[in-house]
Amino acid sequence: MRKKQKFQWNEMTMGTCYYPEHWPKELWASDLERMLDTGITVIRIAEFAWNKVEPQEGVFTYEFFDEFLDLCQKKGMKVIFGTPSATPPAWLTEKYPEVLNCDEAGVAYRHGGRRHYNYNSPKYRELVSRIVEKLGEHYGKHPAITGWQIDNEINCETSEFHSEADSAAFRMFLKEKYGTLDALNEAWGTAFWNQTYTDWEQIYVPRPLLNQGYNPHQHLDYYRFISESAVSFCRMQTDILRRYKKDGDFITTNGLFWNMDNHRMEEECLDVYTYDSYPSFAFGLDREPFCETDLNDRHWTRNLTETRSVCPHFGIMEQQSGANGWTTRMEGPAPRPGQLTLWAMQSVAQGADYISFFRWRTCTFGTEIYWHGILDYDNRDNRKLAEVKEFYRKFKKLDALCGSDFVAAFGLLKDYDNEWDTNVDAWHQRVAHASEEAVLETSERTHTPYDSVYLREGTTVEELLAYPVLIYPHPVIMTEERAELLKQYVEQGGTLIIGCRSGYKQENGKCVMLPQPGLLRRLTGSDVRDFTFVSPAEGPVYAAWDFKETPKEKAAAGPEKASENMRTEMPLFHDIMETADPDAKVLARYTDSYYAGKAAAIEKKTGRGRTIHMGSVFTEENVRLLLQYAGVLSPFDSLIQAPDGVDLVQRQKDGRTWLFALNFKSTPQKIILGQRMRRIFAERCAQGEVELAPYETEVFEV
Ligand code: GAL
Repeated sequence: MRKKQKFQWNEMTMGTCYYPEHWPKELWASDLERMLDTGITVIRIAEFAWNKVEPQEGVFTYEFFDEFLDLCQKKGMKVIFGTPSATPPAWLTEKYPEVLNCDEAGVAYRHGGRRHYNYNSPKYRELVSRIVEKLGEHYGKHPAITGWQIDNEINCETSEFHSEADSAAFRMFLKEKYGTLDALNEAWGTAFWNQTYTDWEQIYVPRPLLNQGYNPHQHLDYYRFISESAVSFCRMQTDILRRYKKDGDFITTNGLFWNMDNHRMEEECLDVYTYDSYPSFAFGLDREPFCETDLNDRHWTRNLTETRSVCPHFGIMEQQSGANGWTTRMEGPAPRPGQLTLWAMQSVAQGADYISFFRWRTCTFGTEIYWHGILDYDNRDNRKLAEVKEFYRKFKKLDALCGSDFVAAFGLLKDYDNEWDTNVDAWHQRVAHASEEAVLETSERTHTPYDSVYLREGTTVEELLAYPVLIYPHPVIMTEERAELLKQYVEQGGTLIIGCRSGYKQENGKCVMLPQPGLLRRLTGSDVRDFTFVSPAEGPVYAAWDFKETPKEKAAAGPEKASENMRTEMPLFHDIMETADPDAKVLARYTDSYYAGKAAAIEKKTGRGRTIHMGSVFTEENVRLLLQYAGVLSPFDSLIQAPDGVDLVQRQKDGRTWLFALNFKSTPQKIILGQRMRRIFAERCAQGEVELAPYETEVFEV
């Protein structure tokens, strides 16, 4: 079973990100007072301020943060203190250029930006350990401190590493993993294109190759190695801080980035996980033309879902409060009145109990002069400050929800091997991205909330059985252990739904010489006899679904589409299948191309559960059908009817249930309450029609 989270907030808590080094000291006291007056009781500081503590190599000065922390203590402000490893000082990178990360060609990223270091340089590790030790030793017991943030956005900016130190560490990683070069050559299939290694020194992290013809098995190990490096860099810091921090103070980091096993980092290093949420990226000036019917900012729900999977009761370290942009990038407009609250409520609805706005005041210098904070350069009270105050008033009405659980109707099953294989394999990436998007969109539009569920070492069948339905879109890589776990899940009553391209690789990313879906074949009862990308030379290919035995499902597709929906387009890719088991039955057949009439979806019952192998990618239409068929679509239907522009989400605790209704539209939206419920913000009971103002959120206690 999942271990208990090491730290949880015990009341809804609001914070902001503050940079005392950016402002004259005369502003500090009034800033803190105004924050407290707004409801902000926690600030995150210092994550880029290495120079303030070590202005020269080996010279440590503590006065600056002593003075600031003492002021915080006096005013009653709590502080999350950041370790500064994301921005090494100029003296450091100049003297020790080997700490720098490099691009694939080996050219070093120079001083001036951030996250331009590599995790594996022994010198960087030594200097980071020392500054973290000094910070812990000196500030660890300060009463104003409530928590620590490691680095800043680990694996953001880049999640690829190509320095010499990385190649050296990669060799160590591989020696540990494979023991001998023979084993490595076998695992990587180096017989192909004469790549056989005869000395460990011949092995590097990826370097420029003609046509980028990387060895995919080597490349997959490289991503595993990056994750390992990042986690170990984080652990190096947390091990130190644990010796100095006060009991009860937490250690966190702000994620969530690529090529990282975030679950492992949370489990091995952290007490709680935080996320940085900037939904206004969705309206960026350099994006696709804005479209009211797209999910736009609701895509952030996907990231919040991922964060919740890492840590169910998470925090938001940076919640958007103003327009985002750098001097070199135009990223997104100012939140419209109400949107700042909507996006913060989106985080809360998905499980956040801590909301910290980025940043208190927009910086007047540097790259981020257009990454706007609550206050603007002029430092006057403004509409954003007023909205943060109003958000706080509502947020505190949710105190009883603090620590409550998000309730999902189904799970989206994932694992890191397959996630990283999508970096390596363009075929895999194409189907995986399309399907994940479809699952999110269906969930949003049909009000069917889902969790991301990661298959990891130690995942138990009980954890999986918490979900009546699991969609595992494209488990291209399949292992004996995972296949066995899935079998137990199905035998014990679960419904497992997989898509095309399942089970054709083993864990090194080599293809298996088995009929597809490989190790899953006994469970699915399906046999892939042929497969193809949809040919651009032909028109779209459809599947006709055979749901005759369950006529109720037809209606579920919506009255206007009831009959049409039994025929869905099957885009991108097709497994062309036959049944391979007497207990398997065909659920859908292709109606076009040379494989018209062949099976497009096969269902097989095993024990108390069943498996559905759908031979294409997931789309909004077919996910809707499958969720309905599996009996989990739109679980709130009898409680609240809402248009698809309104998101519905549920949190539960101690037998109490709250439903969030979030209006993501710029126009009022009507919802219909099927029973009498208490409106938490409006502080009265309601039943029947309720109108939500543009961007308004209401929380109902059921
Ligand atoms: C975040 C980062 C902040 C700030 C913000 C705006 O990703 O953690 O430090 O840079 O973006 O760019």
